[in-house]
Amino acid sequence: MAEESGDTDTDGDGELEARLADQETFDPPESFVEQANVADDGIYEEFEENWPDCWERAANLLSWDQEYETVLEDDDAPFYKWFTGGELNASANCLDRHVEDGAKNRAAIKWEGELGETRTYTYGDLLNEVEEFAAALRDLGVEEDDVVTLYMPMIPELPIAMLACARIGAPHSVVFAGFSADALATRMNAADSEYLVTCDGYYRRGDALNHKEKADKGLRGVDHEVTSVVVDRLGDELNHFLGNSAHDYDELIEEHAGASVEPVSRDAEDMLFLMYTSGTTGQPKGVKHTTGGYLSYAAWTSHAVLDVKPEDTYWCAADIGWITGHSYIVYGPLALGTTSMMYEGTPDYPERDRLWELVEKNGVDIFYTAPTAIRAFMKWGSQYPEEHDLSSLRLLGTVGEPINPRAWKWYYTHIGGENCPIVDTWWQTETGGMMITTLPGVGTMKPGSAGPPLPGIDARIVDTSGEQIEAGDAGYLTVQNPWPGMLRTLYQNDERFLAEYWQEYSDEESDEWVYFPEDGAKIDDDGYITILGRVDDVINVSGHRLGTMEIESAIVGVEGVAEAAVVGGSHEVKGQAVYTYVILEEGQGDSESMRERIVEGVEDAIGPIARPEEVVFTPELPKTRSGKIMRRLLEDLASGEELGNTSTLRNPEIVDEIAARISDSD
Ligand code: PRX
Repeated sequence: MAEESGDTDTDGDGELEARLADQETFDPPESFVEQANVADDGIYEEFEENWPDCWERAANLLSWDQEYETVLEDDDAPFYKWFTGGELNASANCLDRHVEDGAKNRAAIKWEGELGETRTYTYGDLLNEVEEFAAALRDLGVEEDDVVTLYMPMIPELPIAMLACARIGAPHSVVFAGFSADALATRMNAADSEYLVTCDGYYRRGDALNHKEKADKGLRGVDHEVTSVVVDRLGDELNHFLGNSAHDYDELIEEHAGASVEPVSRDAEDMLFLMYTSGTTGQPKGVKHTTGGYLSYAAWTSHAVLDVKPEDTYWCAADIGWITGHSYIVYGPLALGTTSMMYEGTPDYPERDRLWELVEKNGVDIFYTAPTAIRAFMKWGSQYPEEHDLSSLRLLGTVGEPINPRAWKWYYTHIGGENCPIVDTWWQTETGGMMITTLPGVGTMKPGSAGPPLPGIDARIVDTSGEQIEAGDAGYLTVQNPWPGMLRTLYQNDERFLAEYWQEYSDEESDEWVYFPEDGAKIDDDGYITILGRVDDVINVSGHRLGTMEIESAIVGVEGVAEAAVVGGSHEVKGQAVYTYVILEEGQGDSESMRERIVEGVEDAIGPIARPEEVVFTPELPKTRSGKIMRRLLEDLASGEELGNTSTLRNPEIVDEIAARISDSD
């Protein structure tokens, strides 16, 4: 792990590093506390005493067309309903009301292209284009409740399409642009989605990538008719790819210039969007989020945790293709009327100081990223941020995976100048927004620990029987009460929703429902929670959640492969990397070309993010006497850790052989 890695830090501040290393806790600077949206620690008690009505505080951040009657309805738990009777529109909350309040000329989205182009959309501009595209979608036949799939990289048309869908009450399902054609098809089929908005291509490290070709290939795997729209991102460069029956985004916008589309009043519980995520089985889960609960929770956490204010320039450097981008690039910040930055490219293009250049240039106040990025910055060295004036920053955040204390302290020192609190935010696609983190204007920070549960969230660490465990011991994270941003179900699959999240620790007879996020964790005497990682067959590669079963089924789909096991091995920058152990069919030589076909098979089924770090051919997999693969052992082998007891194995001799094959390939 990065803890042991050589830091290429050459700035000679070893003394400072040493002092920070000894320091276990950090308090937010007075200058931050004075201006914080939430600065009173009484908020925890206030939420507890007033639960569930405390959540009105979140709902009050929004404008409702129709006031809700009930904060929480729990008669049909765990199918909870929030703010029932209420009606609202998400795009009106993110756009119209700010324009009406005089913020028409404030920047809503500041976009930075990889090659240096920029585009700024004021709230007025954004509203206009959202209305025009909403009108176009309607003309193409999109009706309320139709699922529209959006398969686009980080270009402004992605949030525009999201808000246009929201405006007409059509849930969107965004598929990460890095996912493969097959992954797109699987998600469109699962959601019966008859509409697709995509683009011709985009830039990565200076190269124009052909995205349309991938989208077309995906469409060939969709089992129903699809109407598609293509955004022309690359201009002349790849124009020739726009050759089929798809509609051209720019033409649609031109045809609908000046259109005005009334935002549809949606019931609070109506679906705002679907987001597919990986789980234990090979089939991705369609997480359903609602209009009232999700939006109020995204807005509330942006206000309380990210301390977003309308006058800020706020930057969440995630991709909108993941939940982080939905909640904290689009919905949360825009609901609060701030300026949200979007960056198209990679952090090291053209140089490794790109992000810091953008922070300086735009005077960014708040910066939110993933530990994997911080570990890469740390590896590159502090000379890159030092070239820039980062003094506009007042708050930093991390999300997606555990952050090791060393990376935390590097971020605190070299990016935050020891003057910005850091919020280490634990949450999931399913939770809709942050759940466990310090409040930056209130809490003491402990590097490596996310912090206490947010006000109103009852997170507890339990043992296998559901009993709360002692401080310091490792156990399972649970959430013992509902919250507005929670998923409502898995799309068209209530049974899987119950089985995946509620079955483990709930007591149905006594109507006690406990949400199980499938993470291991421990808690300390101050109630601070440290997340230990997933306890299901999901691995976290660079903050991206991947199902090992999905990867395994891609590998066994490659001709000549008999069996495969996939685990996460620890990786200095990515956190975890994909390790695959493969048994080939009789007579199939383990050649380089076989390895390539396996890697290709995974990239075709999922995308380059799932690319195996290592393909280890083995004649057998270590199995228990009952025939179960000992994954723990494969994980230890991948991470180069000391192996535990192998005596319960049916085939202990295979372990040394696998270890030898891994070290051979190093
Ligand atoms: O294991 C936890 C890890 O990421 C998982 C959720 O992944 P996903 O749904 O893709 O959402 C990621 C962005 C919210 C969790 O089950 N995780 C997320 N945040 C943290 C984390 N692990 C440790 N610390 C965090 N701050």
